[in-house]
Amino acid sequence: TEPLRLGIAGLGTVGTGVIKIIRRQAAMLEARTGRQIQITAVSARDAGKDRGVPLGDYAWETDPVALATRDDVDVFVELMGGHEGAAKAATEAALEAGKDVVTANKALLAIHGQALAEQAEAAGRVIRFEAAVAGGIPVIKSLTEGLAGNEITRVMGVMNGTCNYILTQMEATGQGYNALFEECGRLGYLEADPNLDVGGIDAGHKLAILSAIAFGTKPAFDDVQLEGIQRISLDDIRHAADMGYRIKLLGVAQRTGRGLEQRMSPCLVPANSPLGQLEGGTNMVVIEGDAVEQIVLRGPGAGEGPTASAVLGDICDLARGSRLATFGQPATSLENAPAAQTSLA
Ligand code: NAP
Ligand code: HSE
Repeated sequence: TEPLRLGIAGLGTVGTGVIKIIRRQAAMLEARTGRQIQITAVSARDAGKDRGVPLGDYAWETDPVALATRDDVDVFVELMGGHEGAAKAATEAALEAGKDVVTANKALLAIHGQALAEQAEAAGRVIRFEAAVAGGIPVIKSLTEGLAGNEITRVMGVMNGTCNYILTQMEATGQGYNALFEECGRLGYLEADPNLDVGGIDAGHKLAILSAIAFGTKPAFDDVQLEGIQRISLDDIRHAADMGYRIKLLGVAQRTGRGLEQRMSPCLVPANSPLGQLEGGTNMVVIEGDAVEQIVLRGPGAGEGPTASAVLGDICDLARGSRLATFGQPATSLENAPAAQTSLA
């Protein structure tokens, strides 16, 4: 069988994590998929940077579009980030050139996912993005495969590790929001634009992607009612604790009389519930379906290993020949309820 040839754009936390797994587990991956998984070319901005992984075996492209369209690339692996610019241009170019795409880019998918999925479908290609939601937790695979026999009624969860770290540390240490925000910066937890984390936007992107898959609608980030954690005070945390609650940045997507309601906002959850007990940078997704009732998925939502694990899951699926599309043509007539019409009551 022919090897599956990858072009990887982005050699930061996730990109180098993916390369490490492919180098370390080459034999295992081949045994599991029946194909050798081969990296043929890589791309990043700085060709001179030491990235802690040997890159000498791979062709180098400074331009991600050139990488995405190379003849010796079957799958374009987009790990650069950002919903405009290089990531969008190279993803579109890859699909146009007849490549499948694997990406971890939640902003790109939440905002342009529908157009990209339609482009992929028209080209007979697939775009996969397990790593874009809840890092190492295989939540997209759970929804599309394991729970395929269910009508999903509600999806909810904690999907931003940085916010969960800040909120749990406020209660555990008595430090205020500003001190913990600075600590997250020192620990390297924050997105390049920290407002994406603390403003709830990153988690909102993830919820928009999950909702589209769970309810068979178009991903519609603009319809997510958003509120961040910037205004949560130590007093809020203490009052919640006194009543037996914790404050979590909680995403909820559910069917209502007005259509699909999506909101991402600080919520009170019982301290002794699974969501209430979620500590640090961990993520949790709760899925409710008519047949399964409720399942709870919990795990690391970020970081090199967990995120690369999810990227490898998608790569292995493609190596095995899976052509499963996760969203594209809406599967239901359920409309998104515009954010302005949803209520937190
Ligand atoms: P990162 O560490 O900042 O790495 C980004 C990489 O992309 C860098 O190697 C950078 O090159 C390269 N890059 C950026 N713009 C480029 C351009 N215009 N042309 C060529 N290369 C470019 O980011 P990351 O944390 O690995 O995240 C990558 C993606 O995974 C993002 O979409 C992120 O949202 C997603 N994700 C990350 C995590 C996580 O825990 N880190 C979890 C889930 C999803 P240089 O190194 O030369 O600057
Ligand atoms: N900044 C994100 C988080 C990274 O804290 O969860 C993973 O998507």
